[in-house]
Amino acid sequence: AKIVVLISGSGSNLQALIDASTGENPTLKGDICRVISSSDSAFGLERAKKAGIPTTIHTLKSYNAGIPKASKKKRKRARDQFDADLAKLVINENPDLVVCAGWMLILSLAFLNPISKANIPIINLHPALPGTFEGTHAIERSWEAGQKGEITKGGCMIHYVIEAVDLGEPIVVKEIPIIKDETVEAWEERIHNLEHIAIVEGAQAALDATKNTETEEKSNVEEVP
Ligand code: GRF
Repeated sequence: AKIVVLISGSGSNLQALIDASTGENPTLKGDICRVISSSDSAFGLERAKKAGIPTTIHTLKSYNAGIPKASKKKRKRARDQFDADLAKLVINENPDLVVCAGWMLILSLAFLNPISKANIPIINLHPALPGTFEGTHAIERSWEAGQKGEITKGGCMIHYVIEAVDLGEPIVVKEIPIIKDETVEAWEERIHNLEHIAIVEGAQAALDATKNTETEEKSNVEEVP
């Protein structure tokens, strides 16, 4: 099975996917065929290169170049073009799965529509429990809520990507308890360790689900007498 991974940063979750899909008896039955980064300085690019995985740099700033922040319409058009071209890059790989691993941009319908037409599932890592702390800085926000006693547990989840940010159907959910007076660094460390397990389980579960639907479709086809 072929996997395209989208990153924006350090790529520790990409590294977890690389480690799980290589070596003697890989736990992830898939090959990462391309890593696409929204940043030209993401350390994840180094990780991909070391693993011999082709990389593509696809930055929004290159689409916005020369467009003043104030011209909202032109920026929206540039954003749609960025997403449409991203979909082309992905579809070109003909993957079985797209994994957003620390991808920091909202994926609009300009991306989601062509990908769903191509029948390619997309999953995303959200470092909080379903329906909580959508958007950015989820780890810091859940830490604050925990230390204020507003929540008693936190965690992370892998979910299918839909238009609503971080609100697609969860595939894997991992929970950890809040620890009173824990530093935000220690909390972040515990969340990242959880992410690295969840992302591999989530990718395998999504691949298994596609395999199941394929077999279902095959079995549904009437045998021509
Ligand atoms: C995750 O917590 C993700 O939600 C956030 O940064 C972490 C991913 O880091 N964007 P990495 O790039 O996989 O190391």
